[in-house]
Amino acid sequence: MRNLDEHTITEAVLARHEHAPDKRLKTIVTSLVRHLHAFAREVNLTEAEWEQGIRFLTDIGHITDDKRQEFILLSDTLGLSMLVTAMANRKPPGCTEATVFGPFFVEDAPAYQNGDDVANGAHGEPCFVAGSVKGPDGEAVGGARIEVWQADADGFYDVQHAGDDAHRARGVLQSLADGRFHFRSIVAEPYPIPHDGPVGKMLTALGRHPWRPAHLHFMITAPGYERLVTHVFRDGDPYLDSDAVFGVRSSLVAKWLRHEAGMAPDGTQMQTPFSTLEFDFVLNRAT
Ligand code: BEZ
Ligand code: FE
Repeated sequence: MRNLDEHTITEAVLARHEHAPDKRLKTIVTSLVRHLHAFAREVNLTEAEWEQGIRFLTDIGHITDDKRQEFILLSDTLGLSMLVTAMANRKPPGCTEATVFGPFFVEDAPAYQNGDDVANGAHGEPCFVAGSVKGPDGEAVGGARIEVWQADADGFYDVQHAGDDAHRARGVLQSLADGRFHFRSIVAEPYPIPHDGPVGKMLTALGRHPWRPAHLHFMITAPGYERLVTHVFRDGDPYLDSDAVFGVRSSLVAKWLRHEAGMAPDGTQMQTPFSTLEFDFVLNRAT
């Protein structure tokens, strides 16, 4: 096929995929090509602008490694992660809503018992977290695997601290037979997503800030139920309505209650102020 011009090139590219053996891949790439070409036409993309775009994507590739996932940050800050999450998690009313996964989950977080301190030395004010895991009919879900992770008071996840491989402020525990769980951690604080790379430059160029409202990540799995990936956000946070990655749902905002030194919910005599958080999760049944 020769002599393609700006009016004929889109269909020519699509024709080249006519016999793609993977039909789903063909559907996805067909739509992607159509939208990419339509976008270039709509903004009348110049050669200099596209070169800049290629440089931007190249920089994203260069900064990405097993600890820094700039492609996820790009997807998150453009709202694509939350869009995909929302489409994949249409649930009946009453089920806990899902939100973005983020780049800071690790597979091999330490196992804890209910009541343990998952902070493991992470910097922050103590926080006692408790709650329950239930099914859509209110049935207790015992033995659910609860993975929790959060940033420290300085706004960093353990994996962002260079030269320290210890797992802090993250762990895995199980709900008890009555569906309840409780553990100790630290108070979540707002933090900026990593913004010292190309995505940070993009946010600045667009007049946007990189902050996420304070939150605690949860991933909960139990046989017979859909996996739930979500956060609990801290009520009153100044960034709840401008989350850099568009992840806030009102149903996930909870009160972190602050207490002066004294008796904690687990009976510990605290010498310093501490907080408590209570949140009940409702899993959707697996289909
Ligand atoms: C997070 O909440 O861990 C997160 C989500 C998206 C981008 C960066 C961080
Ligand atoms: Fe986070």
